[in-house]
Order: sequence, then C-alpha cells, then structure tokens
Amino acid sequence: MARLTVNGAVRDFQAEDDTPLLWVLREQLGLTGTKYGCGVAQCGACTVHIDGVPTRSCVRPVASVGATEKIVTIEGLSPDGSHPVQKAWAALDVPQCGFCQSGMIMAATALLKAKPNPSDADIDEAMTNICRCGTYNRIRAAIKVVANGGNTKTAALAIQHVDGSTT
Ligand code: FES
Ligand code: FES
Repeated sequence: MARLTVNGAVRDFQAEDDTPLLWVLREQLGLTGTKYGCGVAQCGACTVHIDGVPTRSCVRPVASVGATEKIVTIEGLSPDGSHPVQKAWAALDVPQCGFCQSGMIMAATALLKAKPNPSDADIDEAMTNICRCGTYNRIRAAIKVVANGGNTKTAALAIQHVDGSTT
C-alpha cells in the first residue's frame, strides 16, 4: 500500500511503481475529472498540480510522487465550481465538448498564480494544451477576465489571424 496527498486528503492506493499518476487518480481514487488524451505528455488533458506545478500526470510514474507532495486535481480546485478561473470559464462559455477543459483550467490556474496579469506571450508559453474544438480564443479571453478581477465586459473575444490582424 502506498500513499498520496490529493485535494487535501491522504489517500491509500496500490499500484506498480511505474503506473502513471493519471491512472491512480482515475481508477483507484475515482477522480475522473482528469482526462486521458494522448498519453505522451503532448495534449495536457491530464494536467494536475503537484505542489503548485502543472504536471502532465499521464507520464508521471506514481512512485516518483512523494506522499506529502500536494496533488490538486480539477475536483480540488473548489468545492462548488466557484474558483475564479472556473467562474470565468463559465461566464464566457469556454468549453465545447469539454474533454480538454479540466487540463486547460489547471494549466491556467497555475499560470495565473505565478503571473496574475499574464501577457499574451506568457499565455502562449504556459498554455501548450491542445483543444480539438479550437477554444483557444475564449481560453485566452477567460484568462484575461480573471486577470481583470472577473470583469467579463473587458473580455477580448476578437479572432486573431496568422498575419497578426484581428476581427
Ligand atoms: S494525456 Fe497527458 S498530455 Fe495528453
Ligand atoms: S473543448 Fe473539445 S477538445 Fe477542447
């Protein structure tokens, strides 16, 4: 039996040392908000925080996570979806199919903690997750809403084109 600290609780589990953290979270601890997309650290659907650092849990062997390191999953962000990032996501209707969105929210939360007022370049650098539904513009806008204290009126929903122009 091994041990992890997840969303503020100490949880026991049994798994091979090289089992990805993602599968312990989903299959043993029942935290299915964290998604499996690619399994090779490319898409970010499996992003959780470990001691505040956004981490792709599909490639993180569970044995490499210490029992006292603080893991936070989407379920642990707030008890009722009231985290400012979740509220901005809802206010701007960011999700389409929703599959990538827990990972997006976890990545955005870590970014906003590190940089409360991120530039476009900061967002580009931190938000490397992939969304098949193409919600990138609204994700950027929602991050800016959080940076602006939750003011949705200032959300820039303009579409950015490859030549740098916006419409
Ligand atoms: S499932 Fe982990 S990065 Fe895609
Ligand atoms: S909302 Fe569908 S993959 Fe991102």
